[in-house]
Amino acid sequence: MKTFTRDLFQHYLLFVLVLLQNVSTISPHKIPRLSPYNKEALSSVSEADSEDLKTYYYRQTLDHFNFAPQSYATFNQKYVVSTKHWGGPESNSPIFAYFGAEAPLDGDFSVIGFLSQIAPRFKSMSLYIEHRYYGESIPYGTMEEAMKNETTRGYFNSAQAIADYAEIVLHVKKKFSAHNSPVIVVGGSYGGMLASWFRLKYPHIAVGALASSAPILYFENITSPYAYFSLVSKDFKEVSHKCYETIRKSWSEIDRIASKDGGLSILSRRFKTCSSLTSTLDLKYYLEGMYSEAAQYNAPPEYPVTEVCRGIDGAQKGSDVIGRIFAGMASYRGKRSCYNMTTRHTQTSVGWRWQDIKLVLKRFGSNIIFSNGLRDPYSTGGVLEDISESILTVTTRNGSHCLDILVAKESDPEWLVTQRKTEVKIMEEWLTTYYADLKS
Ligand SMILES: *[C@@H]1O[C@H](CO)[C@@H](O)[C@H](O)[C@H]1NC(C)=O
Ligand SMILES: *[C@@H]1O[C@H](CO)[C@@H](O)[C@H](O)[C@H]1NC(C)=O
Ligand SMILES: *[C@@H]1O[C@H](CO)[C@@H](O)[C@H](O)[C@H]1NC(C)=O
Ligand SMILES: *[C@@H]1O[C@H](CO)[C@@H](O)[C@H](O)[C@H]1NC(C)=O
Repeated sequence: MKTFTRDLFQHYLLFVLVLLQNVSTISPHKIPRLSPYNKEALSSVSEADSEDLKTYYYRQTLDHFNFAPQSYATFNQKYVVSTKHWGGPESNSPIFAYFGAEAPLDGDFSVIGFLSQIAPRFKSMSLYIEHRYYGESIPYGTMEEAMKNETTRGYFNSAQAIADYAEIVLHVKKKFSAHNSPVIVVGGSYGGMLASWFRLKYPHIAVGALASSAPILYFENITSPYAYFSLVSKDFKEVSHKCYETIRKSWSEIDRIASKDGGLSILSRRFKTCSSLTSTLDLKYYLEGMYSEAAQYNAPPEYPVTEVCRGIDGAQKGSDVIGRIFAGMASYRGKRSCYNMTTRHTQTSVGWRWQDIKLVLKRFGSNIIFSNGLRDPYSTGGVLEDISESILTVTTRNGSHCLDILVAKESDPEWLVTQRKTEVKIMEEWLTTYYADLKS
């Protein structure tokens, strides 16, 4: 099995973004990857009910949109099924299909809890599908081959990915004789975008979609490229104005020190960098990445923004701005002998060009839930208000990126529990309508 490091993902994500619908990127800034979760922060989450997962491989068509001979090439695409709680075809019990995003599917089972946790209630089958060009679902055998030239890379886009999902959902329905089982698709972040697009494009295959923290409006001329960072700033300001001010001042302070003789080595020493800084960029990207990540995954019980600010505001009396920023860094990342600031050359942004999705949604869409945590910087590119009676939003003030579809925990705050309940209730209504229609 192929495994990739996080860095490599970011690298591949860059390709996804670049290849996805003729993207034009609008922000030069570094934005954390669109992952549903922050792996590092979630390393403590225990394995979810592993649900008797069974792995399968589907012989997937490389190119869904062309009849040229080479389009009939295939690759193995991984999908994973749990029928542990499924009521079976006799009762037309539902199927919940989770769409993998820009990462191997394996990472998702221990953190994406939504499907397994609602399965007993809905007597539903859980289906997880890996995104093409990730994990084990790589055309041309290896990633090196798959990314080799514009022809091989050309099949790496979201339209193909959604068509993959359609084929596999239909295949699974056939395999399990679940011909009349309704399907609800679920995704987080980029996967949530895929889920909502899927419901628009294949309404006959899915009765509804849950799109968690999906920044489907984060495209040029729809959402400002600065929106993401404005919200990061606001998150910090809300937690502590003093902390926010310290961070704001720190950028020019870093420049001031760097401009002195031996300034970079002073900064290297003060920030305990693993190797000497060769410019201030590595340091600035590192800090910017830390603030963004903290805001994006600002989830209970730790609330990392609070953690960073606790360090900054609580630094030893008399600390200067740099001393405070360092204390914030140490508070968030933990005490380390050194901090590795070597830039990973994988910066990306989400200035994806798309059409006026709101209009498209209104015209063609229904039965979509957009769930958003309002403090998640990506919510600036999300749908935050109901668009129709059946395109609904479930927002929470304190929510963070994709929190609602992650494993539910005893310690979850009331608002999170309520948010999940609301989503389940809406889905129940979709299914009730579906079964009523089926009967008549
Ligand atoms: C790209 O690589 C494939 C697979 O090796 C090869 O068949 C094809 O001719 C190449 N295409 C171009 C445009 O180089
Ligand atoms: C955004 O608007 C500007 C100015 O109207 C235009 O030049 C540009 O092509 C637009 N970008 C996209 C992706 O539509
Ligand atoms: C720091 O990170 C870079 C890139 O992620 C890696 O290549 C390097 O080995 C790391 N250095 C240390 C000292 O951990
Ligand atoms: C959201 O967080 C703020 C501060 O972090 C807190 O004061 C407020 O009570 C929280 N709201 C809810 C609904 O939990």
